[in-house]
Amino acid sequence: QQRPKAVIVIFGATGDLAKRKLFPSIYRLVQNGKIGEDFAVVGTGRRQWTNDVFRENVKKSLGSNISSHADLDTFTSHFFYHPLDVSEPSSYLGLEALLHELEGYYKTGGNRIFYLAMAPDFFGIIANNLKASGLKDAAGWTRLVIEKPFGNDLPSAKALNKEIRAVFDEEQIYRIDHYLGKEMVQNIEVIRFANGIFEHLWNNRFISNVQITSSESLGVEDRSRYYDNSGAVRDMVQNHMLQMVALLAMEPPINLTTEEIRSEKVKVLRALRQMEVNGVDDYFVRGQYGDGETGIGYRKEAPQLSASKTETFVAGKIMIDNYRWAGVPFYIRTGKRMAKKSIKIVVEFKDIPMNLYYKNKQEKHPNLLVINIQPNEGITLYLNAKKAGAGTDVKPIKLAYNNNGINGINTPEAYEKLIYDCMIGDMTNFTHWNEVAQSWSFVDPILKLWESDQPDFPNYAAGSMGPLEADKLLEKDGFHWWPIVED
Ligand code: BG6
Repeated sequence: QQRPKAVIVIFGATGDLAKRKLFPSIYRLVQNGKIGEDFAVVGTGRRQWTNDVFRENVKKSLGSNISSHADLDTFTSHFFYHPLDVSEPSSYLGLEALLHELEGYYKTGGNRIFYLAMAPDFFGIIANNLKASGLKDAAGWTRLVIEKPFGNDLPSAKALNKEIRAVFDEEQIYRIDHYLGKEMVQNIEVIRFANGIFEHLWNNRFISNVQITSSESLGVEDRSRYYDNSGAVRDMVQNHMLQMVALLAMEPPINLTTEEIRSEKVKVLRALRQMEVNGVDDYFVRGQYGDGETGIGYRKEAPQLSASKTETFVAGKIMIDNYRWAGVPFYIRTGKRMAKKSIKIVVEFKDIPMNLYYKNKQEKHPNLLVINIQPNEGITLYLNAKKAGAGTDVKPIKLAYNNNGINGINTPEAYEKLIYDCMIGDMTNFTHWNEVAQSWSFVDPILKLWESDQPDFPNYAAGSMGPLEADKLLEKDGFHWWPIVED
């Protein structure tokens, strides 16, 4: 495949995301030969930086991941800075002149990516100005990459989408959900659809429940302003957690095209049982961390949080009302300041009909398929086998596959893969508007019900695995969370 060519314009290039994820990912793409010489990056922001200041910042963002200094200067020579006030139409005109010049020099064929790495309040204004200034009508293709949050609820997401769609076609809009760039999240489909042994069992006759955990040991750090308006449901469930549910539950697509995969995911999201039917208290549990072993409580992290009602933890039971999944709970949980950083999926199979081996006939050792997403990457299958020697004693065993550092190569970071996908025009691992809309329809009623209720916060200690209610959620159904161990 030919290496993609483009000018990438980053709005918010002085910000955190650009520094932590975008510059290092572009560097690795160049190092790995995925991008050649035909590219340029234009950073924009309100600060009056020069190209040199920008390049210094890009260098710093790479930390110790660099191979040599000569390399680095060549790499950063592709970076340019254009000061820009996003709401000021005249500042876009200078940008057009710069892009034109770079396109001639780097022979990028007029291909442009506009990457909006900033607060969504400005997405509409930027889109309009890209249109008014003619920046979006380039000689090659034009793509728009947008970061979450995509709205705050369904109505605001619709309004935002309308503004963007007035300028860009759906086929030009790349909505980032960085979980879709994670190696083991992408592996869910392959594990399911490339293995005869699983797909036959992948339904309500053989699976008793599915557990998806994304726990973080960090607190809100310096993002409390954003986070306090958001909370765990908007920050993690509406996007990442529901995307994992969709990948685990979807039907096999007829082929691997973007359209087919997205359409199967949308069908799952449409089948999620709306919470109006159940009442939130039965199906969703929220939490906020208080003082604990690993830190101070959320309300003490910043003065404006002192009476915050924002949830930093959520656990939920999701029912998928379709033929394959009727009756099988998908439990999700995610939160800040939990015991460990871990992203893990446990698929629990129904137990054997009769226990022949264990002395205590009530004892259960169901088979588990564990998909380890982070920090370890791999899969582990839990089986039962005979203990060596006389007798028929049984012991649980693990068959494990570890994807970490194969041949000493770390798997690419999510952003690296997603930026590359955008450059080659593969939208599969970006979310379609229909997925975003369905996800908001699912979470909106939960948030609405919670708004009218005073939560009893804090209700879990920093460094724990969340409030007790999260355990009860499963106990009511006769299950328990499988412990987060290093598989
Ligand atoms: C982001 C959230 O989307 O995902 C953050 O806004 C969260 O609050 C992060 O920390 C978690 O990502 P990861 O890849 O570390 O699991």
